[in-house]
Amino acid sequence: MIVCSCNIISDREIRKVINELLVEDPWRLIVPLQVYHAMKKRGKCCGCFPQLVDLIVETTEAFHRDLATPDYEIVSFIDKLRDKHRQCETARLIARKRMEQIRAA
Ligand code: FES
Repeated sequence: MIVCSCNIISDREIRKVINELLVEDPWRLIVPLQVYHAMKKRGKCCGCFPQLVDLIVETTEAFHRDLATPDYEIVSFIDKLRDKHRQCETARLIARKRMEQIRAA
């Protein structure tokens, strides 16, 4: 299934990159920009980011389940990951609003 229509990227390609990043560092807090950077792509409209975040969370959780990471560590890590994504999304929305204000002025 295509997740990013701007770059024509499928969920399978995204999961593969997320797993590669997790092999390098299983406790890395992955954000969408890291995934696209690893794929040598750029977010254009960024409309795919919410779905990308869901894929990051699902793939990270599955990765740790395969490693037999204890549940309490997985829950704690996924909570941190979700917090990081909320911070990134808030920063992105603030930046977008500023750009809209600059263009309107
Ligand atoms: S849909 Fe992914 S950047 Fe536009």
